[in-house]
Amino acid sequence: MADKPFSLFIFGGTGDLAKKKLFPSLSRLYQKGYLKGLDRVYSLARSKKEDWEQVVCQLDAGLGKLCNFIPFDAKDWSSYVELGKAIEKLKGQELIFFLSLSPYLFEDAIRNLGRLLRDYTNPRKIVVEKPFGFDLKSAKKLNDLLYRYFIEEEIYRIDHFLGKDTVQNIFSLRFSNAIFEGIWNRNFIDHVQIVALEKIGVEGRGEFYDKVGAVRDMLQNHMLQMLAFTAMEPPAQMSEKFIRDEKVKVLKNTHVQKLIRGRYEGYLQDAGVERSRTETFLCAKVFVENFRWHGVPFYLMTGKALAEKLTQITLVFKEMPQSFTRLLDCKPYQNRISFQMAPESKLRIAFELRPPTGRFLACPVETSMEYLFPTEFEEAYEVLLLDLVEGDQSLFIRGDEIEALWEIVQPYIDVSDEPFIYQKGVKVPPPAVDFLEREGRSWVL
Ligand code: BG6
Repeated sequence: MADKPFSLFIFGGTGDLAKKKLFPSLSRLYQKGYLKGLDRVYSLARSKKEDWEQVVCQLDAGLGKLCNFIPFDAKDWSSYVELGKAIEKLKGQELIFFLSLSPYLFEDAIRNLGRLLRDYTNPRKIVVEKPFGFDLKSAKKLNDLLYRYFIEEEIYRIDHFLGKDTVQNIFSLRFSNAIFEGIWNRNFIDHVQIVALEKIGVEGRGEFYDKVGAVRDMLQNHMLQMLAFTAMEPPAQMSEKFIRDEKVKVLKNTHVQKLIRGRYEGYLQDAGVERSRTETFLCAKVFVENFRWHGVPFYLMTGKALAEKLTQITLVFKEMPQSFTRLLDCKPYQNRISFQMAPESKLRIAFELRPPTGRFLACPVETSMEYLFPTEFEEAYEVLLLDLVEGDQSLFIRGDEIEALWEIVQPYIDVSDEPFIYQKGVKVPPPAVDFLEREGRSWVL
């Protein structure tokens, strides 16, 4: 529980993620009284102490007083000796190590930290940010390395999308409402669309992004997690084990049938690279081969430098029989349920109703449900940090799950074909419009 004493060590404690997400989230949790047991927060970083002071001065003053700085080089054993001196003072406390580092340093950090911790008996947790590996082989290697020093119950692999209210709401809507769960299958659903469109380009992360691309950056994690929540079977019990078992089952039956890749014009300059085959956009047709979803395509689309930010899952239901629709004045839409994460968190349901015109027809109407309660947490990281402190792993990724995710995308990484080029600011690149039109469908945006 959050009031047992614990200390937090943020590796990469002056980096972008720490500055923009971790510290502000910690600060809000602290202000709200959720971190009663927090004793110390150590930032471990290569940068100067002044950079860290700038981060800390923006925090809640109470939290600021708990913060400390340790100069740190993840590859250098002497840094871990210093870390050991700090740990000496924290007898009996739980220690939480958050790797918010460059993924190229994960192995060094895990190996050195694991070695150091052999001398201590404190309860411990290790948090590993994404990307967890760069392909199936390296992810397996990272898992093996973690298991040399930690047990699965101590390992927290993060995907911040799982901390989003709307993603969790898929779960609540599906498994708490008879009217929805009954129709959540191939008998009623025509297809599913999962989109994560972004207005921003690579924004100063070019050097890193060019080695990653949209398949690793978005598809392998966020997009497939949204798919898993949408497609999974109800867990036998609402516990972390059963929830994660069901996600793994669905991911093991998921495969990409086709995928196209694009890149926005101007990417090479933005990323500061001369040549590249990296994609900033992709669109894929995916199938989940099980009894519930056989034959239902899941269309996934994600990209950068597009017209608007939109993150959304839409279930499109089957068409009604033609004989009835011929009586209608308006072209009937197929029913839809959309879970929107951005720009707003909301649920929308589109269906057909007779308008009060005195005639026998039906027209599309849409209900939109914003949340009834003010959201308690501004940021997905707040939810995840709190779960981490409380030891709830339901929203973190298990070792077998991360490997199942890599298996799905493995055939699409490091491919040698050139991505198509699209204009910055376009709503949907034309090849992605065609992708769905050829299937007799269109994007619901
Ligand atoms: C990150 C990706 O994991 O998610 C970024 O690395 C992307 O490239 C971001 O911009 C999107 O997250 P959100 O919460 O802003 O939709």
